[in-house]
Amino acid sequence: MAETAFDYIIVGGGVAAGYAAREFVKLGIQGKLAIISKEAVAPYERPALSKAYLFPEGAARLPGFYVCVGSGGERLLPEWYAEKGIELILKTEIVRANLSAKTLRSADGKTFKYGTLIIATGSTVIKLSDFGVQGADAKGIFYLREIEDADKLVEAIQKSEGKKCVVVGGGYIGLELAAVMKLNKFDVTMVYPEPWCMPRLFTSSIAAFYEGYYENKGVTIIKGTVAVGFDSDSNGNVKVVKLKDGRALEADIVIVGVGARPLTNLFKGQVEEEKGGIKVNGFFQTSFDGVYAVGDVVTFPMKLYNETRRVEHVDHARKSAEQAMKAIKASQEGKTIEEYDYLPYFYSRAFDLSWQFFGDNVGETVLFGDANPSSPKPKFGSYWIKDGKVIGVFLEGGTPEENKAIATVARVQPPVDSLDELQKEGLNFACKM
Ligand code: FDA
Ligand code: NAD
Repeated sequence: MAETAFDYIIVGGGVAAGYAAREFVKLGIQGKLAIISKEAVAPYERPALSKAYLFPEGAARLPGFYVCVGSGGERLLPEWYAEKGIELILKTEIVRANLSAKTLRSADGKTFKYGTLIIATGSTVIKLSDFGVQGADAKGIFYLREIEDADKLVEAIQKSEGKKCVVVGGGYIGLELAAVMKLNKFDVTMVYPEPWCMPRLFTSSIAAFYEGYYENKGVTIIKGTVAVGFDSDSNGNVKVVKLKDGRALEADIVIVGVGARPLTNLFKGQVEEEKGGIKVNGFFQTSFDGVYAVGDVVTFPMKLYNETRRVEHVDHARKSAEQAMKAIKASQEGKTIEEYDYLPYFYSRAFDLSWQFFGDNVGETVLFGDANPSSPKPKFGSYWIKDGKVIGVFLEGGTPEENKAIATVARVQPPVDSLDELQKEGLNFACKM
């Protein structure tokens, strides 16, 4: 079988791949670049899939959300790649990587040779069948990672004869999908094991606001238990979600968001891993010479906190991709660049709500503002304080200027003398900086 050779290959065609391609062109890196993706479409802004893509009216569709519109940049249509001489190899899954031979093998038997490899395989969903949950492969149980998954869900929403939806998981997918299914006029029940939603970021006070707001919208929330099985009808369509606490919930559609797993398998034993991800330095170089990795799949040095972390969010996917390309360019010119110095930034939108978070969520917390879920225009936030300094800030309902201000606080880490004073000052503390 013929071998195709490129100077650079990006394996994976998601957010990081798209931003890397734009940076590659912007920096004028010489040589032939290919992006190999198992998806059928050019890189797009994945966050749209759990939000506007599922709206009952005015839904977002491609080409509307190709990268890099999500960060206010140029929209890279499929033609853009051709114009720039970048080969977009779609519907092609890489099933084997041999880093010593510098080759990749696809599921359809093609071999690709590269000079420099950029790994951008992202994450995949954790499935309930991974834990052996009975009946978890029934029809009508959905996961959401790629546009193909979103299309299947849209079809099910449109065709569903019943209007009962159970959302399993209380993280990002759980909260965003429960909201969007409610907009689609489903009776929505959320089920999650923890005492409050989004425990990896929210304090109990922050969560109480969102849970109250969702309940006001008619979403039923069941906490402290998990789905242990599903019953289906004679056509194999899911009908009942069985919970560990003995309850049984009727369902026409089930949406599962119980976490993601980085796609490192292809490179196991060939590159060093740490904390579940591919270990990279501040220039996104892996332990294998000439192999870079970016986005969800990497564990990188978080300079600000002096530790290594993996981050599953779009802002890091974009910035890590740009940093890797800058590092490649610099190494060719014998120059050095600054190490990656990332300030964690997470956000979400659901119903009329929109929150942003910057920094680290450890230490003591101070809640400020109006966190009453029944307020006509709730606006509140939380500071995290460690060693006498503010190191993390969350804000619901902020203006662009206020969100910028909280980002500055998380980066500067100002000292605080009194938590009571900080609570009284609230958002002003950030805005006056
Ligand atoms: P990404 O998953 O984007 O891309 C990986 C690509 O590699 C995919 O195209 C995949 O098909 C391909 N691939 C994998 N293995 C391959 C193989 N062997 N061969 C070929 N191709 C392969 N974040 C945030 O900050 N705010 C938000 O609102 C959201 N919203 C959101 C919604 C939904 C539905 C999801 C699933 C995720 C989010 N995220 C988010 C997270 C964010 O989208 C995520 O962190 C980035 O997409 C990560 O970018 P990567 O390029 O690393 O992976
Ligand atoms: P997550 O890690 O945010 O949440 C997983 C949740 O699953 C946990 O909070 C828990 O409530 C629940 N859970 C775990 N085991 C369970 C079980 N056995 N039964 C029921 N619930 C269980 O993961 P996610 O929500 O699935 O999101 C997947 C990926 O997509 C993540 O990488 C996430 O960052 C990304 N994403 C991000 C955004 C955003 O940043 N706004 C939006 C959507 C998706």
